[in-house]
Formats: sequence, C-alpha cells, structure tokens
Amino acid sequence: MSHHIDDIGMLAVQVKRPVIEKTDLRALTDAVRPDLVGAYKGKRYMIRTYGCQMNEHDTEVMAGLLEILGYDSTEDEELADLILFNTCAVRENAENKVFGEVGRIRPLKYRNPELLIGVCGCMPQEKAVQAKIRETYPWIDLVFGTHNLHRLPELVEQAYASQETVMEVWDKAQFMLDDLPKVRKEGVRAWVNIQYGCNKFCTYCIVPYTRGRERSRTLTSIVDEVKGLVASGFKEITVLGQNVNDYGIDLGNADFADLLRAIGRVEGIERVRFTTSNPWNFTDRVIAAIAETETVCEHIHLPVQSGSNAVLRKMNRGYTREYYLQLVKKIRAAIPNVALTTDIIVGFPTETEEDFLQTLQLIEEVSYDSAYTFIYSPRTGTPAARLEDPVPLEVKKERLNRLMELQNKISRLHNEQLIGKTLEVLIEGVSKTNPNVLSGRTRTNKIVLLDAPKEAIHQTVFTRIDAAQTWTLRGTLVTSDVETA
Ligand code: 5AD
Ligand code: SF4
Repeated sequence: MSHHIDDIGMLAVQVKRPVIEKTDLRALTDAVRPDLVGAYKGKRYMIRTYGCQMNEHDTEVMAGLLEILGYDSTEDEELADLILFNTCAVRENAENKVFGEVGRIRPLKYRNPELLIGVCGCMPQEKAVQAKIRETYPWIDLVFGTHNLHRLPELVEQAYASQETVMEVWDKAQFMLDDLPKVRKEGVRAWVNIQYGCNKFCTYCIVPYTRGRERSRTLTSIVDEVKGLVASGFKEITVLGQNVNDYGIDLGNADFADLLRAIGRVEGIERVRFTTSNPWNFTDRVIAAIAETETVCEHIHLPVQSGSNAVLRKMNRGYTREYYLQLVKKIRAAIPNVALTTDIIVGFPTETEEDFLQTLQLIEEVSYDSAYTFIYSPRTGTPAARLEDPVPLEVKKERLNRLMELQNKISRLHNEQLIGKTLEVLIEGVSKTNPNVLSGRTRTNKIVLLDAPKEAIHQTVFTRIDAAQTWTLRGTLVTSDVETA
C-alpha cells in the first residue's frame, strides 16, 4: 500500500541506486555460480517493475543477483545493457502496457547490439503469453517466471550466447527462494516474504496460477532475516504474502499471530506492517497479536472486493458481507484508531446496479481510509472469464467513477479529522514533487509532508498535522530533538 493510485498494475517502479547489505552477502556465494561472479563488470541493468509489492521485492532479489554478476544499475534505458520487465498479470491493461513498452524500446537494440531485453514475473507463467512472445516478439532475449528467478545469472549467460529467445518458465516452485541476495531500495523500510503463492482461487484471479500454492517460510528464517535487517539500520519491516493470515497453516507449528509477535519483539524494530490479509481466516488470535504488539502498526489492508453477497459468492471469496462487517467490528473494538484500507472490483460479470449499491453502502459503513478500485478484467484460464457478461464497459466505468468519488470524500474526511493532532511519523526521504519538503508516514500508513532538516530523514519524529488532502497530510515538526536511536 505505498501508492495511492487506482491501478497498481500500472505502476512502474525502478530500482534506485542500491546498497547491498552485509547480512545478504553471506548468501551470495551459493546463489551464483562462482565463475559468473563479477563476469559482467562494466555492464548496466535496469529493471522495470509492475504490480504488487511481491513483485517489487522480487526485483530487489534480481537486482541483488545482477550486482553479483558485476552489473551496475542505471535509470537511463539508453545506457542499459540489460532491461528486464518484471511483470504483473492481474489485469489485462498492465499486460498491454508491458508489450507496448517492449515494442517501444526495441530500437535501442540497433544502437547497442549487446542489449538484452527480458520479460519475467507473472506474465510468462501464462502459456498464452509465452506463445505471444514466440510469435510476435521473437527478439526478446530472455523470458523466465516467478518460480525460477534465481536462475537469472545462468539465463543471462545463455542469452548472451544464443540468437534465440531463452525461455525457461517453471510450472511449480521447486525451492523456497529464501536466502537469495537482495538490493533493497531504501534505507529505512524493508519488505520480507513470509509466504509464497495462494490457495484461494477467487474466480477472477490469476495469482494462484502464476504464483502456485501457498508455501510458508519457517519462522526462524523469517525472524533471522528481520534481525539482520534491523541490525543494518532498517526500522520498518513489512511482511509480504498473498494471504499473510494463512501463514504457517502448511507448517503446522506457528501461525500468523505467532509470527507477528516474534517479529514485533525483535530488538530495535520500530514498526511492523503486513500485506495482504484476507477476511477469510483473520482469526481472533491475529487481531489480539496486532492489538497487543506495540510495534505492529494499526493499519490493516483487508480487501473486500464487493459488498454484494451474490457477487461475493460468484467470486468464491468464502465470506459474506455480514461476516466481513462483523470482522471489521471486532477489529475496530480491539485496535483503537485502526486504519482500514481495501481493494474493490466493480463490474464483475453480471454485477447489477443493486449489487453495486451494496458495495457503496458497505464502503460507507466501514469508512475505509482509502481503497484501490479496479474494473474487472477477464483473465484467460480463470473461471470468471467463462461467465456471460452483459454489463457494458461504459456502465462499469461509470460505477468506478461513482465509487472513487465516494471513497475520495471519505478518505478526505478521515484525513481532516487528524488536523491538530500530533502523530508519530517515520521520515522516508524528500518528497517526490518537492525536494525541499520531507515525506514520511504515520503508523496508519498516511503520507505526511513536512518542512524539517534533512538530518530527520530515516528518523521517527512527532509531527502536528496542519492540513489534509485526499491523499496526503501536511505537518509541522514538533520534536526538536529528533530521535537518533
Ligand atoms: N480484474 C480486476 N481486478 C482484479 N484484481 C485481481 N484480479 C483482478 C481482475 N481479474 C484486484 C483485486 C485484488 C487486487 C490486487 O487486484 O482487487 O485484491
Ligand atoms: Fe487472488 Fe483471491 Fe488469492 Fe488474493 S486471495 S491472490 S484475490 S485468488
């Protein structure tokens, strides 16, 4: 939940100038064949990332592997010797964007015949995408999927040697890609995988097909990684999974509540976040762990998708509107001032105006701090793609607009209620739009812009909120003695 935009699938993030952490270096020797270490010194890479935080995190792993090969990162595609598209398959427009971009950059190959262009991540897990690349984009040099990104060093080597597309996509995970090196983008927030894949099979969703079944990392390996990150200066850890509250079900010796408590107690950690949780199996134990662990932030991203029971059933979401609202009540009772955010799909096949009104009502009743909203996008191979859908796109767009209008109003109201309050803000860096202003987040994940000395970057400070907009707050520093711990 780091960007307030209406389509995370359209978000392209580039890896910034990286730092390899000491803690990660241990893993390097096993991760890359010894003769490839440093073999590409002098070459530059660029990774364009689409989609969710899981993808952004995979990009950190690929950047780590490439830097061991000797590559340096660049943000200038004209200078790059390797351009990788780490792709998202959740909605069709994100896929079209990638194909558009791959086509756009093809001429760079004429200027730099050594340039490798690669497509990886979720799209190549789809057979149709593999076929499309073979037929229409044969000049793409390498293609690999979500289960074999650790193979990147060897695939790069093969791609340099081959005239044809090197395509290696695994249908299933064979390893837990735990201990691979990573290049983290930031100095203060880090993302840690706790679980891969999804077992839920919501009927619209391609993720169970592109990411495979749920696999949890062991508690010790996660806690060790977190300890290493905190020791190297990270203050906020976000644990990642498709369904974090299913964590450990496959292991049988720890659940998500145990994990939150274990991470929350790591010496020196300031903030723990998690994403994404599912209303299904959001247990009282998890609620209690969030409420009782001081470092766990009071923000829950709890995708509801629809407020209509008929639609929820067709989506195979496994809960009803009433169950969801009851869960929200329990959460609000246990965690004061909790911020709730959500994902909503409008225009699921056969969604009626009445169904849609139920969604609007639910939004008002829950009063989310913010929401990601999407128009349903049929994904080949998913059950929903086979449903008849008489609802015209124009109607869906108009529903999306009504939904966004309502949610924006609610988001702004939430933010306005914070005016005059003094909140803890972890400063991440300078604002993207104004380098003289710093930008940080509250525990509830709201962006705060403030004037403060640059020394405050990466510190936790107290800020009085002066003004509120739909997406951001404006504040003034109130602690002069910026915390240094
Ligand atoms: N069409 C539109 N939105 C989708 N999402 C997942 N699959 C689809 C689809 N086929 C949305 C859901 C999910 C978010 C990450 O993307 O809201 O929570
Ligand atoms: Fe997709 Fe549903 Fe799994 Fe989320 S829970 S990844 S929406 S199938």
